Amino acid sequence: MNPIIAPSMLAADFGNLQRDVELVNNSTAEWFHMDVMDGVFVPNISYGPSIIKAMTKHTNKFIDAHLMIVNPDKYIEDYKNAGVHNLTVHYEACDHLHRSVQAIKAAGMKAGVALNPHTPVHLLENIIQDIDLVLIMSVNPGFGGQKFIENAIHKVSQAKDLIVQKNSSAKIEVDGGVNTENGRRLVNAGADVLVAGSFVFKSENPIETIEKLRNCAL
Ligand code: DX5
Ligand code: ZN
Repeated sequence: MNPIIAPSMLAADFGNLQRDVELVNNSTAEWFHMDVMDGVFVPNISYGPSIIKAMTKHTNKFIDAHLMIVNPDKYIEDYKNAGVHNLTVHYEACDHLHRSVQAIKAAGMKAGVALNPHTPVHLLENIIQDIDLVLIMSVNPGFGGQKFIENAIHKVSQAKDLIVQKNSSAKIEVDGGVNTENGRRLVNAGADVLVAGSFVFKSENPIETIEKLRNCAL
């Protein structure tokens, strides 16, 4: 099966966002990945709901927002209004994760949970049936263009086992340093969605690169 490709708009040209949204529209990528950073949970600040809304205006594709922020519950409605379809919060940023997940679903979005590289997959065993997506971070969140952490492949297999064992329908997404080489191994381990920022937008032909990534496991 081909993975879903989710280009990360963090690596787009912020001065030409509409152009880069159109680029993804014209590709075989099915999702947009939008990274929200608050300078507190992670050491960087990116953009929030208003910029996301400006981008979603130009596409009909699936919008996957990745919140790297503290207190995500405060902003759930804002992301729904910005046109987000899947809202992912970090396990490490939520004291009451079950409540956050229920609030995201009550707002009419799919709910994802992200795990930092040091956070074990088994911590999801009591929430895996309630969520739509597990996001395995393959870099420490905060910046694009970092080196892929190999242990993410092992964590994808563990997440796959947990999903099968608990009869969950959650998808597995991987984010950080993804390229065609590790992409193939991630898909073989059970990944359903590959996020890619620099690998797509810094390449000579982003549309071709997206297609290569989509076919990397064939
Ligand atoms: C990192 C972000 C990623 C980032 C990926 O904190 O969550 O989505 O944009 O960028 P690359 O693919 O360049 O590692
Ligand atoms: Zn991300």
